[in-house]
Amino acid sequence: MAILETKDLKYSYPDGTTAIRGMDIEIMRGKKTAFVGRNGSGKSTLFMLLNGTIKPKDGRILFNGKQLGYDRKSLRDIRKNVGIVFQNSDDQIFAPTVYQDVAFGPTNLGYSKEKVREKVTETLEYFGLTDLKDKPPHHLSGGQKKRVAIAGIVSMQPQVIILDEPLANLDPVGADELLDVLNALNDSGTTLIISTHDVDLAHNWADHLYFMAKGKVIGEGTPDKVFNDPELIREAHLKSPITLDIYHEIERRGLAKPNQHPTSVPELVDTLKPPELMWVEVPTETLEGDVLNLGVLHGEYALQSPYEAVNARVLHMHSDGRAVVEVVRHGIKAGGIAIYDIEQYDPDGFQRIMETEEIAMIGAMGKQSKMLAEEYHIPIQISSGVIDRTLLMALCGKRCLILTSGGMISHSMKRIDEYAQRSGIAINVSIVNHD
Ligand SMILES: Nc1ncnc2c1ncn2[C@@H]1O[C@H](COP(=O)(O)OP(=O)(O)OP(=O)(O)O)[C@@H](O)[C@H]1O
Ligand SMILES: [Mg+2]
Repeated sequence: MAILETKDLKYSYPDGTTAIRGMDIEIMRGKKTAFVGRNGSGKSTLFMLLNGTIKPKDGRILFNGKQLGYDRKSLRDIRKNVGIVFQNSDDQIFAPTVYQDVAFGPTNLGYSKEKVREKVTETLEYFGLTDLKDKPPHHLSGGQKKRVAIAGIVSMQPQVIILDEPLANLDPVGADELLDVLNALNDSGTTLIISTHDVDLAHNWADHLYFMAKGKVIGEGTPDKVFNDPELIREAHLKSPITLDIYHEIERRGLAKPNQHPTSVPELVDTLKPPELMWVEVPTETLEGDVLNLGVLHGEYALQSPYEAVNARVLHMHSDGRAVVEVVRHGIKAGGIAIYDIEQYDPDGFQRIMETEEIAMIGAMGKQSKMLAEEYHIPIQISSGVIDRTLLMALCGKRCLILTSGGMISHSMKRIDEYAQRSGIAINVSIVNHD
């Protein structure tokens, strides 16, 4: 069902610039929608229209099927339900301290003093802002300001959160942490809308995309659909996502399965065809016709790897101890991913898990998990792209541990399960410290 809709929406700025020239969009409840389009295409203007910050010249906006009103009560109502994080944080942050800024929303919602304090403390913690809570926002760095602005909106728990270029200004790990937070919010039902110039992000993250140009929608649909239309990509002044570029190149060379649409590195890996014929080192007593079990060892197919990857029939024994083999079955025995709720850390239990689960690498998801890991002296090897990178390790038969908490737990489980289902590779995933 659509939570936000526009019908023939139009807007011109007081100086006469027409920014929105008739837009019809439908934002689905609980989904992640991204708007992409070149500078000046109207994304920020549209976003300000969607939560009543500015009033359309023509056309309608519907929230939950009801037309937006512009009296004080209606505006208060829409702004409570549709939170917006502006492109420029200076337009958003004005309280004297970070704490007061994040407290502004919950206080305005009429929460009790207690509840405000609880909510703000929790949010600051979640965004890793606790240490900055007494600083004046205008003394923060650009990325820190952005985190404060987002925290201020998240603390109000709106049904819809609109983020105008949320990752601009954030360092790569910080951007990844923000995406983890957003994904966890989305998993618990929050509808998300972003604008971005990052085609890889739009392709990988969004459920639905709108391509905009000159104040209009020029294309929309699933990322698969819109990013497979070169004409549309050009018209929108965009470029093709990197996973698709690589996929098309390897597919053209016959190395990948046809008609796939990988949006992430693990999905790209999953499109690869196993080699049909290859040379491998084999014991001298091997006979032609034998079926060998090969695994991936140091990145190559080899015997005596602990992880079964393929079965191979020996077609030709060569005198130097190598054989030409034909791959007869692709049956990866994948590793697994253990998820550890860091909020329930106990040192003995943790030690036991590390010993019994044969953990090759530890990843931490979320700012809070990283801070707790540091406090507990747990060494972290993976701090960004945690799900994708642990999936890739699992594909090589390794086991990884993800330290995380709250809504990110169910989000990770879901993402890993989805990948296992789609690829048909049984990747074992479990929460190891919940009863
Ligand atoms: N306050 C304003 N007064 C007059 N014109 C404006 C104003 N703000 C934006 N515009 C114009 O409206 C059009 C749409 O701008 P908008 O900021 O919505 O684009 P955008 O898609 O968000 O661009 P970007 O990717 O650079 O953020 C542009 O032509 C811009 O010059
Ligand atoms: Mg903009």
